[in-house]
Amino acid sequence: METSPSPRSVAVFGAGYIGLVTGACLAQLGHRVVVRDVVQQKVDALARGEVPFHEPGLSELILANAGRLSFTLDASVALEGAEVAYVCVDTPPTAAGDADLSRVHAVVDDLLGAAHLRAVVVKSTVPIGTGARIRARLDRAGLDHVGYASNPEFTAEGTAVDDFLHPDRIVVGADDDATADLVAGLHHGVDGPVVRMDVASAELAKLTANALLMTKISFANEIAGLCEATGADVEQVMGAVGMDPRIGSRFLRAGLGWGGSCFPKDGTALKTLASRDGLHLPLLSAVIDVNNAAPGRALQRLKDEIGGVDGKTVTLLGMAFKAGTDDMRQAPSAVVASRLLAEGAEVRCWDPLARVTDPALWDRTARFDDVLKALAGADAAIVVTEWPQLRDLPWQEVAASMASPVLLDGRNLLDPAAMREAGFTYLSVGRP
Ligand SMILES: NC(=O)c1ccc[n+]([C@@H]2O[C@H](COP(=O)([O-])OP(=O)(O)OC[C@H]3O[C@@H](n4cnc5c(N)ncnc54)[C@H](O)[C@@H]3O)[C@@H](O)[C@H]2O)c1
Repeated sequence: METSPSPRSVAVFGAGYIGLVTGACLAQLGHRVVVRDVVQQKVDALARGEVPFHEPGLSELILANAGRLSFTLDASVALEGAEVAYVCVDTPPTAAGDADLSRVHAVVDDLLGAAHLRAVVVKSTVPIGTGARIRARLDRAGLDHVGYASNPEFTAEGTAVDDFLHPDRIVVGADDDATADLVAGLHHGVDGPVVRMDVASAELAKLTANALLMTKISFANEIAGLCEATGADVEQVMGAVGMDPRIGSRFLRAGLGWGGSCFPKDGTALKTLASRDGLHLPLLSAVIDVNNAAPGRALQRLKDEIGGVDGKTVTLLGMAFKAGTDDMRQAPSAVVASRLLAEGAEVRCWDPLARVTDPALWDRTARFDDVLKALAGADAAIVVTEWPQLRDLPWQEVAASMASPVLLDGRNLLDPAAMREAGFTYLSVGRP
């Protein structure tokens, strides 16, 4: 990897999925990086060389760049000598559906004394207008010489390091060329085009990209319902549809719908943002409604098959919101588990990585490390996360070990003919 001809000193605020990947990748590009977080255990773990969550390649990158990358709890330590401050803190939803910007503003508070900064760069996903408000705060604090840029993040958990270093595009929203040049220059050595625009457009580009990806998934789920009613196979339909390069094959999979730390909150935030300006986004509202209905629709097929779940043991295969991550924020598994529990089922679950974020729910389920033990004696199983290792289970043996071999494949991961051959009553989404 080619390193930057002009290494910079960078302070990164937030040692989560985005902040750590950003910090480690900027260090890999040759910059000196200090990452600041407010959670003591996180900073202590990082200082010991431990990454507090699962992200492939991240530990190795942190280790390889240890000489240029450090971690602190102290904002002033992070800012000492820093030329650029990256804001990578979380922006969770408020009760009203907006993005909660309190952490972003807390970081800006820390920056107001750092007159030596050349630029503040916001990577957190924020509503349109956030940059303009931060710009006004910087100006009021006498920091009108400090540039501002929106540099939204398009990486996906599970492939974030590779996505950062080989991106489809690097969006740089800045209102002056010097700041845009500085941020673009920080990415020297990265294999991807820099797309420059104004701050508001960069903010909206991020939310719009997510909304369009959600739309593709919900459309596949809507067509899946039609397939179930007519005998068509959604995998074949969407397979053919996605071969058109104007459409593209990704995000056209029917199933239990999206979850995760971004889509649910970003979709609602965009809707709420528009409604504050008196605008209604009917298409986006429908996309969200289709997604919310997806787990219930799939579960209904299982309940019809086994005559309800009251008193039955149901095993969830997968808890993380998608394969390749330990992230359980807004995972569809939580919707499925709470519905099953509410209807009287005993719920078992298995996942190779998931880090439970809602113990009040998951303490009511039984978690197994061994997937075969989780399935033995169960009345039904549901594939909730598309973990590839599930493809290789000895399904015939599993069918024989279950009280009744019924499987709802909520991700269309397995081969219907093979599963039936293994002895399963096999249900999936939008497939006959
Ligand atoms: N996770 C993703 O895949 C992804 C993708 C694109 C964009 N984003 C956006 O990036 C932002 C960060 O997401 P994430 O998944 O990394 O969140 P995260 O919850 O994993 O990490 C946020 C970190 O910020 C820390 N923090 C909170 N207040 C702080 C402060 N004042 N100073 C320093 N650190 C502070 C938290 O302790 C936490 O470690 C969000 O706006 C999210 O929408 C996330």
